[in-house]
Amino acid sequence: MTDTVLVFDTTLRDGEQSPGCSMNLAEKLRVAAQLETMGVDIIEAGFAIASEGDFEAVSEVAKQCKRATVASLARAATADIDRAWAAVRHAGKPRIHTFIATSPLHMRVKLNMAPEAVLEAIRGSVSHARNICPDVEWSAEDATRSDPDFLARAIETAIRAGARTINLPDTVGYATPETYGAMFRDMISRVPNADQAIFSTHCHNDLGLAVANTLSAVMAGARQVESTVNGIGERAGNAAVEEIAMALKVRHDAMPYRTNVVSTEITRASRLVSGITGFQVQPNKAIVGANAFAHESGIHQDGMLKDASTYEIMTPESVGLSESNLVLGKHSGRAAFRQKLADLGYALADNEFQDAFKRFKDLADAKKQVFDEDIVALVDDEVLRG
Ligand code: KIV
Ligand code: ZN
Repeated sequence: MTDTVLVFDTTLRDGEQSPGCSMNLAEKLRVAAQLETMGVDIIEAGFAIASEGDFEAVSEVAKQCKRATVASLARAATADIDRAWAAVRHAGKPRIHTFIATSPLHMRVKLNMAPEAVLEAIRGSVSHARNICPDVEWSAEDATRSDPDFLARAIETAIRAGARTINLPDTVGYATPETYGAMFRDMISRVPNADQAIFSTHCHNDLGLAVANTLSAVMAGARQVESTVNGIGERAGNAAVEEIAMALKVRHDAMPYRTNVVSTEITRASRLVSGITGFQVQPNKAIVGANAFAHESGIHQDGMLKDASTYEIMTPESVGLSESNLVLGKHSGRAAFRQKLADLGYALADNEFQDAFKRFKDLADAKKQVFDEDIVALVDDEVLRG
């Protein structure tokens, strides 16, 4: 089995489904361009039948993309699939992504369909899609709350009808790493034609486990991961692409798989999506949060100044940031303060330095964060007084 994990980005489809996150055509094209530069393998550009705007966006992204596969979502209905194809057919590598729910709850309450009818719908929809498009992905919505025997039959049916990617979403973020990984292991071993398809993860973050669940499924045999930039998506969001890519890169010893993500493009992608959607990234967010490479405590700053690997497991440069950020605050020590003064061009005599450091600490007690301007004012005052 290959060690390459394909990255399927759904920022423009599931990500855009976050309330308040919609993007216009020009914005979607900019995001798609950056996703290609970042090296994602598949871009899900939208849900072509959802609106005229979505159709146009999928078509234009399909025309623009040079390397990545471009997918459109479609329900298990002929009209949806035809509309998806009309939009993605412009792509060098088009994909139709069709889905139907397989959990007892969704089949009964939402679809009002008996399980046998759902199997029939899978057969019909996937074979229709496959007749018009060589690359078909099928998703079992709410897979993690589906009956395993029924799920195995559904997967076998989809592969027999022509699906070459089988996605098992944790639609409501209900799985744990152990259960999600076990589901993949179980399906890959028991579905007789499983070797004809790539298994894919799609995790929502309702319990904050989306990335952990994704990685667990990769360990269990999944070779495609579905994710979004900054983890945007329905409710608590989707698995964050930057976290998955960096986890696989930094912990290759523990998870010996690779992606095609160009990690130095991650920060640019994060800032672009945040700027366009207006969704700010939480400061302590892994990889792309403002504090992900920031250090305030004296002990940590001293360690960082001696050797960054004391407190950083990856370099800021590896995700496209120019440098770490030693934030000055009440926990900072003399080493970081001395470094900051040097960066700002000051060389103080020892007594001036000690005095300035004390006044800096008093200021830091009164303020949450001390900025460069505060230091400049403080030292200029010190020099004038001295
Ligand atoms: O979460 C989900 O189940 C989905 C599918 C439509 C793939 O987004
Ligand atoms: Zn989803």
